[in-house]
Amino acid sequence: MARVVTLNVGEKSVEMPVTEGTEGELGFDITKLRAETGYVTYDPALGNTGACKSAITFIDGDKGYLRHRGIPIEQLAEKSDFIEVAYLLIFGKLPTADERKKFSQRLGANAALDPAFKKVFESFPHDAAPMAALSAMINTASCFDSTVADGDDEQFAEAAARLISKTRTIGAYIYRMTNKLPYVEPDPKLPYVANFLRMMFSTPGTQYEVHKEVTDALDLIFLLHADHEQNCSTSTVRMVGSSKANLYASCAAGVCALWGPLHGGANVEVLEMLDVIHKGGMTAEQYLEQVKEKKVLLYGFGHRVYKNFDPRAKILKESSDKVLAKIGVKDPLLDIARKLEALALKDSYFVDRKLYPNVDFYSGIIMKAIGIPVNMFTVLFAIGRMPGWIAQWKEQRDENVRIARPRQIYTGPTKSDYLPVEKRK
Ligand code: ACO
Repeated sequence: MARVVTLNVGEKSVEMPVTEGTEGELGFDITKLRAETGYVTYDPALGNTGACKSAITFIDGDKGYLRHRGIPIEQLAEKSDFIEVAYLLIFGKLPTADERKKFSQRLGANAALDPAFKKVFESFPHDAAPMAALSAMINTASCFDSTVADGDDEQFAEAAARLISKTRTIGAYIYRMTNKLPYVEPDPKLPYVANFLRMMFSTPGTQYEVHKEVTDALDLIFLLHADHEQNCSTSTVRMVGSSKANLYASCAAGVCALWGPLHGGANVEVLEMLDVIHKGGMTAEQYLEQVKEKKVLLYGFGHRVYKNFDPRAKILKESSDKVLAKIGVKDPLLDIARKLEALALKDSYFVDRKLYPNVDFYSGIIMKAIGIPVNMFTVLFAIGRMPGWIAQWKEQRDENVRIARPRQIYTGPTKSDYLPVEKRK
């Protein structure tokens, strides 16, 4: 028998059907609540609201599980790569060899930017915030492709590859633009990450040498960021997409949401925090005292959903040791990060609040080690997250959901009359 939850509100009673997810998550369907009782739910920050059903990513925040289309992130990190995971997220299954080849060819064929993009880049100041430029340029891409909102599956597959590929080129060009360097055309024969590194770091007249340990490290970072269900930026993509805004416009909005220091921008804050501790001659203990006095945050710690280790942080912690050893970088910031983590994990402030390292705690150290400047960290997060945003936009489009339109509890003045200017105080 179908389960229901009965809610009594004053004289009225409403029966709400229970929806159960495949991993046992339960939610009761409140869609008739307002019509039948006059009440709405009040859930600031939406921590108790299931805004959609989704078959893409599963997180169990208490156990520290993260799975894409059922496959644990640990297996994907060990056996797969970013492009395969992008395909898995967007198309719902691991690609066959032929499907993978076709997808890679599509990525290669769509890597170059129309020459008009360079004119737009040239109009930005060199110290433009990279995330502002990224969002603007993804919208610029939409000026060159207006078909994706209503397109068929084939058009969508092309648009998805175009957006994933061009976002990577745009990311590299933002670095070139802010560093006043000439743009390097993509090489369609190179794999995704190697192509990115070449466009970032080639110098005129020299052949850029792609190091396997560097491409592997960056591939892992992209893979670990590829999707994370209904976080702030993904919910933004869905919100914008619910108005039937096109894929580019929706993902450009996601970039803006990701930019904030409490979300994707935390990877920049982590490095700045470690730098402040290092350069200011502060000890990890002294910094944590300030955190506990609520003067500063311990960036890279805490998560709305994980009340246990973020599994991505575990993978990156192990990887940071290996990457730094392989490329021969000794970074004192890594020692500070380790110290902060060790102290925080046994300190009651963090233990009682279930605050553990999140993905941003170690990603910046790896990116810094492979030569990515700090102000580009969140851009790289966005490049990694693009497949997730695209998958979530598609899932919503295919379900033809209603436009998202939350309610509010109004707390402003009750009806009052307009005062002419001479009577105002
Ligand atoms: N440092 C210090 N205190 C913290 C931290 C932190 N990083 N995170 C949470 N707390 C405290 C809160 O102030 C709150 O304290 P209180 O009970 O005394 O009021 C308590 O822990 C509980 O906070 P939550 O409800 O778990 O936090 P919330 O869900 O509102 O926020 C967030 C989650 C934004 C991630 C928060 O933990 C934070 O600001 N972390 C630092 C920024 C960061 O690393 N963000 C990246 C998140 S991962 C991602 O987006 C890719």
